[in-house]
Order: sequence, then C-alpha cells, then structure tokens
Amino acid sequence: MKANLQVGVLGFGTVGSGVIHILEEHQAKISQVTGYNITVKTVLVRDLEKNRRYETKGFALTTTPDDIFNDPEIAVVVEVMGSIDIAREYILRALKAGKHVVTANKDLMAIHGDELVSAAQENGCDLFYEASVAGGIPILRTIVNSLAADKIQKVMGIVNGTTNYMLTKMTTENKSYEEVLKEAQDLGFAEADPTSDVDGIDAARKMVILTRLAFGMNVRLEDVETDGIRGISPLDITTAYQLGYKVKLVGRAEEVDGTVSVDVGPVLLPRAHPLSGVNYENNAVFVTGAAVGETMFYGPGAGELPTATSVVSDLITVAKNSRLGTNGNAFNSFIHETKHTPKEKVYSKYYLRLEMDDKTGTFLKLTQIFAEAGIGFDKIIQEPLNEFTATVVIVTHSISKAQLNVAQKRAEEEPEIRILTKYAVVEG
Ligand code: NAP
Ligand code: HSE
Repeated sequence: MKANLQVGVLGFGTVGSGVIHILEEHQAKISQVTGYNITVKTVLVRDLEKNRRYETKGFALTTTPDDIFNDPEIAVVVEVMGSIDIAREYILRALKAGKHVVTANKDLMAIHGDELVSAAQENGCDLFYEASVAGGIPILRTIVNSLAADKIQKVMGIVNGTTNYMLTKMTTENKSYEEVLKEAQDLGFAEADPTSDVDGIDAARKMVILTRLAFGMNVRLEDVETDGIRGISPLDITTAYQLGYKVKLVGRAEEVDGTVSVDVGPVLLPRAHPLSGVNYENNAVFVTGAAVGETMFYGPGAGELPTATSVVSDLITVAKNSRLGTNGNAFNSFIHETKHTPKEKVYSKYYLRLEMDDKTGTFLKLTQIFAEAGIGFDKIIQEPLNEFTATVVIVTHSISKAQLNVAQKRAEEEPEIRILTKYAVVEG
C-alpha cells in the first residue's frame, strides 16, 4: 500500500483550483511516479461562502491558517494565494513547522528569496518555485538540472504573458493600448493590479529569479533597469515592423567577465528571431550556453492548468525527495559573488525616435552630439510630421549604455531635439 503525503494549500483561486484538479485527475500516474498518494487535506481561503470552480469535497476549507501549520499530518504547504508580506509570514511559519513548501509567488521569491531559501535549509525542508517564472514552462529546473554542466552566458525571456498578449494584438490588429489591456484582464492573464505587468515589474521579478538560478548571482530588483509598455506608441510598432523588427517586452540577463547586467524593456527583435514568433500570452526563454549554444523553451506563461502543472511537478519532486531522504537540499546550489557589469561594457544597438524642429542646422547638431559620444548610425529615416517638425528614426550601431546616456543628456540640452523613444535592438 502506498503511503500518504498530505498537502495544505494556501489559496483556492486560479492556480489553487488547477492544483487540486490536476492532483485528482492525474492521481494514478503521480502515485506511480512518486510512490505516494498525494492528497489535499486542507485549503485556506478568505471567503468560505464564495462559489468555487471545482467541488470542495475530499478536503476541508478553512479561513484559519493554523489549521494547516499546526496539523502534524500535513507535510507540504502549497502557497498559491499571492501577496508579499502575508505569504512570506505563512511560508516562514510552514518551514519552521518542518513542512516543505511549494510556491508560485514570483513577487515574494524575487524580493525575499534569499531569506526563504535559508529558512528552508535551516529547517531541513524543500522549497520549490518552478511556477514562479513562465507559468507552465519548466524553465527553472531545466536551468538548475539540465544545463548544470554548461556555463550559461545569456538569458533572454518573454516572461510576461499580459504584455506579450497586448503587443501581439497591437501589432496584428492595430488595437489601442486601452482596448488590449482590458482584453488581457478579462482573460485572466493580468495581475489583480496590472501596473506590475505593464510597467515591466512582473517581468523584472522573474528576471531576478532567472538570474539567481542561471548565474548564481543575487541581483536586487532595484538593480534591474526596468521599462514597461505603458507609453508605447503604435507608431513605433509600425515603424519597427517596416524596418524588419517586432517590438516585444523582453528581459535580458547577460554575464560578461564574471559580472552580470539585467534589464527589462521593450526591445526590437528581428522578425526572423525565434522570440519574435512568440505571440499572445505565450512565454519563451532563450538561453545561450557556452557549450550547448542557443536553446529556447516555449509555452504558456500563465493560466490555471499550465501554472498548476509546474506546481504539481514541484510537489512530485518533494515526494521523490521524501522517498529518497534527500529533502532540504537547496533548489539551486550555484552561488557566485554578485557583480554588476559597468554601463561602459553593456553593448546593444538602439532604436531611437526623435522629434526635431525642421530648420537648417538641427540635423547637423544631432549628428555632432552622436559623433561626440562615438555613436554611429546604421539606419536613419526622416519624415515631416508637420510644417515645423520632423520625425527622425535612428538605428545605431552597437554602442554601450554609457555612450547612449552621454548622447541623451547632451540632446536634452537642445530644445529643438526631443528623444521620444529609446529601445534596444537585438541582433541575430
Ligand atoms: P487568485 O486567483 O487571486 O487566488 C488567490 C487565492 O488566495 C484566493 O482563493 C483567495 O481566497 C486566497 N487568498 C488571498 N489572500 C488570502 C489571505 N490573506 N488569506 C487566505 N486566503 C487568501 O490568484 P492566482 O492567479 O491563483 O495566483 C496565485 C499565485 O500564483 C500568485 O502569487 C501569482 O502571482 C502566481 N501565479 C499566477 C499565475 C496565473 O496564471 N494566475 C501564473 C503564475 C504564477 P478567496 O478565494 O477566498 O478570495
Ligand atoms: N501576470 C502574469 C503574466 C501572470 O501576465 O505573465 C503569470 O505570472
């Protein structure tokens, strides 16, 4: 007879419902793979009266967290309620009570990951968070296990489904920003407060987690240069397309000489780049390794069942560890001193859209500013905007972030030159 592994679930929303559903639906396979009957014993919610997506039979619903933390029969806690402070407190309580923890909470893991990983180790417990990045794509375990033999050089990801959905719709259907944001909210991809999606914060949090696992470095959220899509102009989307690019919100983490740079923002991807084909709410993570070369992991980045699949895969790992007596080893044991790449060494091509007074000498001034910063132009387009103003689009050669900052500061001193858009351009 198989032993029982009883689970307490914090949250019965989108992901929590999916976890309960998958554990029931795939019970026979999970039991064969792990040697355990993994069953949900208690589920914590805020509102006992709320209508639930699935039947609530076979387990207890509670609003009292101690019903889970003080229950000696519950060996694993799944945190799928979201938030930062309360989730942190509950996970610490679960770990101190000797319970293994699985969470899908990227906000929490990006900010308090270090503290929680230490707490798990001190208490000999597992702490897994596969679902926190790119929903249904098993990217964290791939980086930690499958690519452990390689030296990862670069990670580029479309890791926010909401903004990818919005940009896809704006590109293919010429819809407005407001229209597509509402659609993404109605479809359930967006966070309760979509600010973190559209301002790039959700993607930045996921890049902090990816950086920790890929490069062993603990980059703080404040150190991730973050830009969102709030101010995105349809003009940039169409101009980029005419130039052979698609605009996507991309997180980039790159290691150079033992230092790392991480940023998130709209970038121009060549239309033939594999990431350009990632549309709607799908996510993809493009990993370059010294040995393996270029790889891409693609799939649904959000939603009930895809995300729940990752949560349950973590539960399966906890169960296997329990069988082998190997609980308590950190998910990621690769740690390095965190060093940031100076801006002088972070290179990219850039797409710039400017408005300039259409009078003799302004263009000369512009070229002088860029020449003084050592910036060369790859492409230039100039179109009249009205009688007095021209729109100028420039794609630069590869330059450093420091060079771009110098040119931008100088341009800000000239009232007749106004840089409106500044996006990195990915090559290859
Ligand atoms: P959700 O649908 O809003 O569900 C949250 C659940 O947690 C609800 O059942 C709610 O109870 C419960 N809850 C919230 N605060 C609580 C509290 N203080 N005490 C007790 N119960 C509480 O959220 P979700 O979309 O499932 O997301 C859950 C987590 O997964 C988040 O960290 C999210 O970032 C992450 N995640 C989500 C997705 C996705 O596609 N949705 C993908 C990847 C990761 P009531 O039902 O009673 O209100
Ligand atoms: N709001 C997130 C997204 C959910 O759109 O990607 C998954 O983390």
